[in-house]
Amino acid sequence: PRRVRVHHLQAAKERGERLTMLTAYDAVTARIFDEAGIDMLLVGDSMGNTMHGHLTTLPVTLDEIIVAARAVAGAARRAFVVADLPFGSYEAGPEQALASAVRVMKETGVAAVKLEGGERSVPQIRALSQAGIPVVAHLGYTPQSENALGGPRVQGRGHAAEEISQDAVAVTEAGAVAIVLEMVPAPVAARITEVVRVPTIGIGAGPQCDGQVLVWVDMAGMGDWTPRFAKRFGEIGAALTAAARDYADEVRSGTFPAAGHAFDA
Ligand code: KIV
Ligand code: NA
Repeated sequence: PRRVRVHHLQAAKERGERLTMLTAYDAVTARIFDEAGIDMLLVGDSMGNTMHGHLTTLPVTLDEIIVAARAVAGAARRAFVVADLPFGSYEAGPEQALASAVRVMKETGVAAVKLEGGERSVPQIRALSQAGIPVVAHLGYTPQSENALGGPRVQGRGHAAEEISQDAVAVTEAGAVAIVLEMVPAPVAARITEVVRVPTIGIGAGPQCDGQVLVWVDMAGMGDWTPRFAKRFGEIGAALTAAARDYADEVRSGTFPAAGHAFDA
């Protein structure tokens, strides 16, 4: 399969072909999603919640992102792989952002990094872009700022719609190659999608974005709770529970391992 590259994202927008993105945090899921034809894989700092058992994304470290990103980039043959810059790895300014992003690019093999923020992150986006590192921006609800935003809440309603649109233009002018829009009113996301050149990837941002992204455990039905903007496309949690129960039953009853699973002397 031909590798998805940055110009393919732009071409998809121009042709009106919707882009698909899922998170992945390890080689197992990266291979599965890549083989399923998912265009973009995001090594998201949502791994803090989904994989590491944290309540927020804030504790996730650059080292943790790098380990996961190396696994995902190594397993994906076609997908465009993006790694999140975690909280604390870029806010201090363009130099800190560049140092963090250079580490990610040198040590993992991903195609791009993602960072949160509009106007406030423009110097960082410009510095990385000028260094040849593609940047995906992330606007709307930005989980790394959840303490300031008061938790997961729709951003860009009313007067704030204009602000988020300006942010979208600003990050595009700074060099962002795509923009994630999270929990943004559908009409606002639609207007941003029309106005900016680069693809918008929505999560809780309605159907008019150029692409969609979901956290894979939400998409696969792994948790007991699913955000309103997500949809369970499978019941993998229930399937895994059933497999583990069957395994335990067969071990306890002596059915597994059978003769064929054992070795002769
Ligand atoms: O970390 C993540 O999973 C994300 C997506 C929600 C866009 O940033
Ligand atoms: Na993230």
